[in-house]
Amino acid sequence: MAKKLFIKTYGCQMNVYDSARMADLLAPLGYGMTEDPSDADMVILNTCHIREKASEKTFSELGRLRAQRVQRQAEGRDTIIAVAGCVAQAEGAEIMRRVPDIDIVLGPQTYHRLPEMVARATRARDERLGNQGKPFKGAGMLDTEFPAESKFDFLPEAAAPQGVTAFLAIQEGCDKFCTFCVVPYTRGAEFSRPVSQIVTEAKRLVAQGAREITLLGQNVNAYHGEGIDGATWGLARLVRYLADKIPDLSRIRYTTSHPRDMDDDLIAAHGDLPQLMPFLHLPVQSGSDRILEAMNRQHTGDHFRRIIEKLRHLRPDLALSSDFIIGFPGESDADHKATVKLIEEIGFAQSFSFKYSPRPGTPAAMLELQVPEAVMDARLQEIQALLEAQLVAFNRATIGRHVPVLIERAGKHSGQMMGKSPYLQPVHAYLPAETIGQEIEIEITELKHYSLGGMPAAGHAASRQPERAIA
Ligand code: 5AD
Ligand code: SF4
Repeated sequence: MAKKLFIKTYGCQMNVYDSARMADLLAPLGYGMTEDPSDADMVILNTCHIREKASEKTFSELGRLRAQRVQRQAEGRDTIIAVAGCVAQAEGAEIMRRVPDIDIVLGPQTYHRLPEMVARATRARDERLGNQGKPFKGAGMLDTEFPAESKFDFLPEAAAPQGVTAFLAIQEGCDKFCTFCVVPYTRGAEFSRPVSQIVTEAKRLVAQGAREITLLGQNVNAYHGEGIDGATWGLARLVRYLADKIPDLSRIRYTTSHPRDMDDDLIAAHGDLPQLMPFLHLPVQSGSDRILEAMNRQHTGDHFRRIIEKLRHLRPDLALSSDFIIGFPGESDADHKATVKLIEEIGFAQSFSFKYSPRPGTPAAMLELQVPEAVMDARLQEIQALLEAQLVAFNRATIGRHVPVLIERAGKHSGQMMGKSPYLQPVHAYLPAETIGQEIEIEITELKHYSLGGMPAAGHAASRQPERAIA
């Protein structure tokens, strides 16, 4: 009988990708996915450590899972419990101490070893089941090494299809050490996959129905992988190669980028490569040079402005997204105003803003002058109201326009389909189901806050090149 696997994913798109690859790794062992943790033979929590409460959330989730396991054990069944991801990496030893009956704790760089660990955990579980009445013992395996081998060399070629839009990890880790960030510690040093490996995976995704691929990395535009010719290729060269070699790949996106790595080659690609979508997530974190310096971002507000200027010169309709940290230690009213000013000047289509959260082990957590909670709250509210107004204005400006929408799946209402505009806006329209996987020219007629409604534009064939100057 097929065994059931439940994976709960927290955090970023890289974790979503990793969860899918873990499922691919366990499929040959007879594991199929379930949506119900109480019915699962194995549960993986794929955790995130970027902001606060992550580890407490993990521990309380583990408490629930262990209670469910006791229930299942009473019925002669059992559950293997694993914690993966960045909380596992950062707090593996603590998890082992606080949850002595845990089976598996593994970091983001060792999940290719999961099948072997599951085989050992299965033996431990069988022993447990034969030990009715005695205290439960977990398999207790911890693997949070940064191994010399790359996990990507060990991941299976066979993978469950991701659908019309797919993620592909091309780069991982970070060497930049922003003073607030745990990523260099949890994901390790920067690593780029070779181009040939990426092309093979991209071709497979497209053969399985993907029309859009988002290239993923913690510092994706720092990509510097081994090219087809043996030389080191940057992201722009990789993107051009994928666009050239995979004709059915209509859309390419990449995330997340750092302003320092936005080189002229990549900026040029936004101007001349139709497959590269006019949407860029480029975190700036703050508008104050003083704070940017304390964050060790190694760029200024004006550096960011210049990049945006160059990009918009080549691609006037480029939609921008960013991340902001509010209340970094020492942030004054003047620093906060500089962030507000930068947001007003640039104009973002969407953004994420977070209250600063001191992460254990990062340099900023040791700084004095942590900003009082009430001040942070007030600043966050102001920034979020501004970003929200910009989002609504951006979406409103789409009304009446024709945009090519890549149809992904059926919507909530019967006959309705859902897809995305080039600017990553969700769009709903009444269309036949055969349109899934096609780019359809849609006339936008309605704004539903975060999403748009529309209908097929009369007399317009689907086209790849979106209209210019939308915002
Ligand atoms: N506190 C608040 N936000 C953070 N981020 C990263 N570390 C922290 C932290 N310690 C935010 C940054 C980053 C995004 C993924 O999470 O804005 O770009
Ligand atoms: Fe974290 Fe900075 Fe690296 Fe981004 S660039 S992952 S914010 S250390």
